[in-house]
Amino acid sequence: MVDHPLAASRLTALRDARSDNGAFRAALHELTTMLVYEAARAFPPETYPIETPVGPTTGTRIANPPLLVPVLRAGLGMTDAALALLPESQMGFVGLARDEETYEPRAYLESLPRDLTGLPVLVLDPMLATGGSLEHCCRLLVERGCTDITVLCVLAAPEGVARLEASGLPLRLVTASIDEGLNDKMFIVPGLGDAGDRQFGGM
Ligand code: PRP
Repeated sequence: MVDHPLAASRLTALRDARSDNGAFRAALHELTTMLVYEAARAFPPETYPIETPVGPTTGTRIANPPLLVPVLRAGLGMTDAALALLPESQMGFVGLARDEETYEPRAYLESLPRDLTGLPVLVLDPMLATGGSLEHCCRLLVERGCTDITVLCVLAAPEGVARLEASGLPLRLVTASIDEGLNDKMFIVPGLGDAGDRQFGGM
C-alpha cells in the first residue's frame, strides 16, 4: 500500500467525477510516479565504478530493470511516468477489454518477448476489479517463463486481490487503495469509474 498525502491527493482527483480527461491523465501520471518509486524499493541494486569531477567513487543502478507491460487501454496512461523513472526498461503490451456481460477479459493484443526467463516484469493497470484482466495478463507472462511480477494499480477491490492471491501466480501488488468492493456491474465502489473512458473517452 502506498500511503502518502501526495498520493492521496492525486487519488482524490482521480475519484472526483468533475475531473475532466486532461485532469484525470495528469493525476494518473503523477500517482504512477509515486507507485513506481515505492515498487522500485524492492528492485535489487548493483554497484559500478564512476568518476565524479573530483575523483573516483562507487555508483548504483538497478541490476535488472523490469520489462514494463501496460494493460491497454487504461495502462497506457501509466507508461510515461514509469519509463521516466526506469529509462533502461523495455516494454511489452497486452490489450484486454472486459466483456460487460460476462465480465471476463477479451484479449485483442499480445506483444511480449517470447522468453521472459530471468526478467522481472512491472504490469501497469490502474484498476483491479474482479481480477480477471490482471490474472489473464500475469498468466501470459508466466507461460513465457516469468517468475517475478509486480502489478501496479491505482486502486483495487478486495475481490480482485483475493482472486490474485488464490491464483498462486508469482506476483506482488502495489496499490494506493483497497476500496470497499464491487457493485452489481462489477465496478469498484467508490472507485473512479472506468479509467480507460476517463482518460480517452467512451468507446
Ligand atoms: C478496465 C481496467 C482493467 C479492468 C479491470 O479495463 O483498466 O483492465 O477493466 O477489471 P477486472 O479486474 O474485472 O478484469 P477495460 O476492460 O474497461 O478496458 P479499457 O482499459 O480499454 O477501458
